[in-house]
Amino acid sequence: MSVSASAPGKAILIGEHFVVENQPAIAIAINLRAHVTARESKNDKILIFSKNLGIKDYFSEGNINIKSPLYPIYYAAKEALKSLNIETSGLEIIIDSEIPPSAGMGSSAAVSVATIGAILKIYRRELNKEKISKIAYKAEEIVHGKPSGIDNTISTYGGSIIFRKSEGFLKLISNFSDVKVILADSEISRNTGNLVRKVLRLKNKYERIFDPLYYSAGHLAIEAAKAIENMDFERLGELMNINHGLLSAIGVSNRKLEELVYVARENGALGAKITGAGGGGFIVALCYKKDYENVFKALKKVSNRVFVCDISDKGII
Ligand code: MEV
Repeated sequence: MSVSASAPGKAILIGEHFVVENQPAIAIAINLRAHVTARESKNDKILIFSKNLGIKDYFSEGNINIKSPLYPIYYAAKEALKSLNIETSGLEIIIDSEIPPSAGMGSSAAVSVATIGAILKIYRRELNKEKISKIAYKAEEIVHGKPSGIDNTISTYGGSIIFRKSEGFLKLISNFSDVKVILADSEISRNTGNLVRKVLRLKNKYERIFDPLYYSAGHLAIEAAKAIENMDFERLGELMNINHGLLSAIGVSNRKLEELVYVARENGALGAKITGAGGGGFIVALCYKKDYENVFKALKKVSNRVFVCDISDKGII
């Protein structure tokens, strides 16, 4: 019998990179989801097929290609089976994701979360979110090296969260029905792990300059969480703009990202900034619903991939 699970992508509204060094950050789940269908098979192999990447791989004991882009998914599946005390099992896993990969939208975490959810469903176990997020974190370590844990957390729980590595997360209580988030692609590819390492190198080199930036980012996240809970989206937009300045200061912006950010702001966004690792990937703009079409049209002129998203309360289902 086939079962399906899905999990949302995310946008970081405040605090990427700073979160890696234990500052709080804010993420929202978006209404683009990774869908995973899984079923038991009769052999001892785990077959993973990604419709989006157009890649199929088999994994079995003694035949594990750790270089495969699908290896983190295999690892998540194996860990999920281990947590159920199932040592060997044949599985077929099919991934169909609406979330663009390598875009800072948490596609790898969402695929891991949905894969683990589907496996728990096969064996009729409850979707224990703490367990799902923990296993997905381990798979994220393979993808990104030293992830903060924000991606697997938001993808598992949905909604909007304030997250701190040492403390975990709190769900923010708000109502986002007046706003939209727009994500626009710089069409420059980059690698999250490399960018995280680049920022940390610079931080070590200029410790006394970077420390206040990190301190400031931490306060920014707390102010932004209050703005979200008060539904003060103008304030949230301003805080996003300040956050973008900090991200430029730590070296993850570039000319194209700046163009996208300024086009969004000049056409009515409440705030716009890099989202995710930067260096390429996407920007996020926050807009009142009444203004989003202008922002969308303007961004479409400078980017081939622009997504208009709602904030989604649904995590893993
Ligand atoms: C990547 O989506 C966000 C970073 O802060 C890395 C992380 O939190 O693991 C750059």
